[in-house]
Amino acid sequence: MPSITTGKPEQVRVALGERSHDIFIGDNLLDRTAEFMQPLGLGRRGVVISDTNVAPLYGEALCQSLQRADYEIALLTVTAGESSKSLRQANRLLEKLPSLRLDRQSFIIALGGGVAGDLAGFVAATYLRGINFIQIPTSLLALVDSSVGGKTGVNLPQGKNLVGAFYQPRLVVADTATLKTLPKRELRSGFAEVIKYGAICDAAFFRWLERDYRRVLRLESDAVRKAVRRCCELKAKVVSADERESGLRAILNFGHTIGHAMEALVEYEGLLHGEAVAAGMCCAGCLSVKRAGLKCADARRLRGLIKASGLPTHLGAQFTPEELLAAMWLDKKALAGKVRFVLLKRLGATVVSDQVTDSDVEEVLHVCR
Ligand SMILES: NC(=O)c1ccc[n+]([C@@H]2O[C@H](COP(=O)([O-])OP(=O)(O)OC[C@H]3O[C@@H](n4cnc5c(N)ncnc54)[C@H](O)[C@@H]3O)[C@@H](O)[C@H]2O)c1
Ligand SMILES: [Zn+2]
Repeated sequence: MPSITTGKPEQVRVALGERSHDIFIGDNLLDRTAEFMQPLGLGRRGVVISDTNVAPLYGEALCQSLQRADYEIALLTVTAGESSKSLRQANRLLEKLPSLRLDRQSFIIALGGGVAGDLAGFVAATYLRGINFIQIPTSLLALVDSSVGGKTGVNLPQGKNLVGAFYQPRLVVADTATLKTLPKRELRSGFAEVIKYGAICDAAFFRWLERDYRRVLRLESDAVRKAVRRCCELKAKVVSADERESGLRAILNFGHTIGHAMEALVEYEGLLHGEAVAAGMCCAGCLSVKRAGLKCADARRLRGLIKASGLPTHLGAQFTPEELLAAMWLDKKALAGKVRFVLLKRLGATVVSDQVTDSDVEEVLHVCR
């Protein structure tokens, strides 16, 4: 059984000048949200935006704890799933806010996975030209990735995340105990991003994951805290150096160039983001051996960890290399006629390359399976 620990939460500072904020990480922090909000001097009125899976589990408890601390809170719920990340849904939410008398001092809390976070963040960024925003991520992907860094937005029929804003939260409350109700497949999918941080930024963390991934996936409290904390630290560091993705931040796309193409080919049905990224990282590992000097043995370690954690190492049977290449060219990360790849020089160190050719990719898609 996963152990329950309370007491002092871990704290990670995201250093961004006047947009700096803290991430608090630990079990059972949801009820303590008001305590973390206190120093921020926010107004008394706020809205919690959640989805139809997460709201019944945690919405009421969160609202009640805030009401006990004298906040006036309304809970707004959207249908769970990616289709809620739409302008239509954002519009529906925005039109509810005036009657709830939210003003510039008020706040919006996102409670849920990346969908709730991106959508609520976009609403917070645009209502009254921006009101206070708080993230309470509840999926592993949201805990280690989407709640950190200030990217908010919605999808268009033409593509994902085409409308949005960089908008930093004032606070992130990362309650790791909420992961107990997350479906296991979603947990594993989020774990792909955890592996990614080790691969691109921190060889020692990667080694620790190779040893202790089972403890993280079993949700042993100390292991989950360590993993979430390290990922938040690593992402915070990258985002602090390059908030608006003019350079370094691109390394976070490791495994995503091919991963996004796979997601687009299945039209986001039946394949979770982390599963596509896992297979994409395996391909990127092979390309790294070919083009960036990664040792074969290290590409095998990457594949080994992905496989051991129950994630796919390739999706070759589902598409032809030609289809994947075509989808990659359509992706918005294809810059000026070149598809740019984040490659590994070694575990923990990246290089961004536009030297990868179509035939390299084809070869890898044939061979790496
Ligand atoms: N803003 C960013 O920087 C960034 C980064 C990566 C991904 N994203 C976005 O994040 C989204 C994906 O996020 P996601 O994987 O969290 O998807 P999601 O929000 O759809 O959550 C996955 C599923 O898990 C459920 N869920 C979440 N937490 C739960 C819990 N504790 N218990 C039970 N069920 C729970 C949700 O209701 C949903 O059904 C995508 O839209 C992606 O574009 C954004
Ligand atoms: Zn991702």
